[in-house]
Amino acid sequence: MKLTSEELDMLEGKYGKAVQKSMEILTTLGEIFDAENMVDVYGVQIAGVSYANLGEAGLEFLSEIAEDGKVRVLTTLNPAGMDRENWQALGIDEEFAKNQNHVIDAFAKMGVITTCSCTPYLIGNTPHYGQHIAWAESSAVCYANSVIGARTNREGGPSALASALTGITPKYGYHLDENRHGEVLIKVNAPVNGTDEFGVLGKIIGEKLGELEKKIPYITGITNATVEELKSFCASVATYGGTALFHMEGITPEYNRYPKPSNITVEINQEDLDKTRSELIDEDLEIDFVSIGCPHASIHEIEKIARLLKGKKVKKEFWITTARPTKRIADEAGYSKIIEDAGAKFAADTCCVVAPIKGRFKGIMVDSAKACYYGRAKNKFKVKIGPVEECVEEAIK
Ligand code: F3S
Repeated sequence: MKLTSEELDMLEGKYGKAVQKSMEILTTLGEIFDAENMVDVYGVQIAGVSYANLGEAGLEFLSEIAEDGKVRVLTTLNPAGMDRENWQALGIDEEFAKNQNHVIDAFAKMGVITTCSCTPYLIGNTPHYGQHIAWAESSAVCYANSVIGARTNREGGPSALASALTGITPKYGYHLDENRHGEVLIKVNAPVNGTDEFGVLGKIIGEKLGELEKKIPYITGITNATVEELKSFCASVATYGGTALFHMEGITPEYNRYPKPSNITVEINQEDLDKTRSELIDEDLEIDFVSIGCPHASIHEIEKIARLLKGKKVKKEFWITTARPTKRIADEAGYSKIIEDAGAKFAADTCCVVAPIKGRFKGIMVDSAKACYYGRAKNKFKVKIGPVEECVEEAIK
């Protein structure tokens, strides 16, 4: 790789051990993927924050890096294993909380903003069109590349941290024009509405791409999509297909930048949506947990939940998972009080997947296809997908 004199100094250790280690990671990655050079990044999103995933070895690694590592660019954190303020009410044990706080303290020492959210783009880590970034949360990566038109590969925890400490990333993959064109034309021949249905669509497209061994769909037939629907779609298509970039005709910013693919076409009809929805509803289901906010709920979604819950009482455990800055807006707007008076709980900084709640509930109802996948695979829950209105109905019935 061609490195600048500053990058060479970083590699030789002139900026300290953490930066040197980071440069070793980034140059190794660059060489593996034939990057010619590095590119400056506007911001970083770090994943792998839950102590449940990191364990003691991960905490030790972070503590070591934090000894002399300081971030050079705006850097935010993915959800942690618990709400940092409300963990006791959510049933998290004290030993886990202590270790989780050590992890977050290590990131804070490096200058990382401890937002603990998978929707950094909703709370200020918001790149603009064409900007290079290094993000490591699959749903956010897909959103940044596709909906914003920023450029990032799907980073791992260590490479994202390395970019945060150096301000650069190797220029390969989705940073280059030639790797961003659509490969499969997907024609959607049915109306798609709501976060749940966009999640269902993401599952169909993700699985189809997997069968075809392709990564970038070019989607037609969607006439309108909200931010919330797109974030749900991103989470789903990334979960079921490993997709980090899609184009949606008339909706995403790069849809007419590259030629429309014409050699492979897939049609999606109402029957496909119905069949896939039924795959996300388990039989013999006993729902004792409802969670909304995968990816983290926007203020718009929280306002809607408050409206639906006003004057009611929930009878089941009901979490609204969101970023703490979004929760603070909800507090000021009075939405939090309505929601908490109804007996539902905010779980800021965390979510129903990364929190250590395996086996604690029998069945979960969500509006997210991604949460269905991990609810089954990681937490061993039975699952049901449905619109937000039905999730709230389920919680109060
Ligand atoms: Fe975010 Fe957790 Fe879903 S990290 S995308 S809320 S699984």
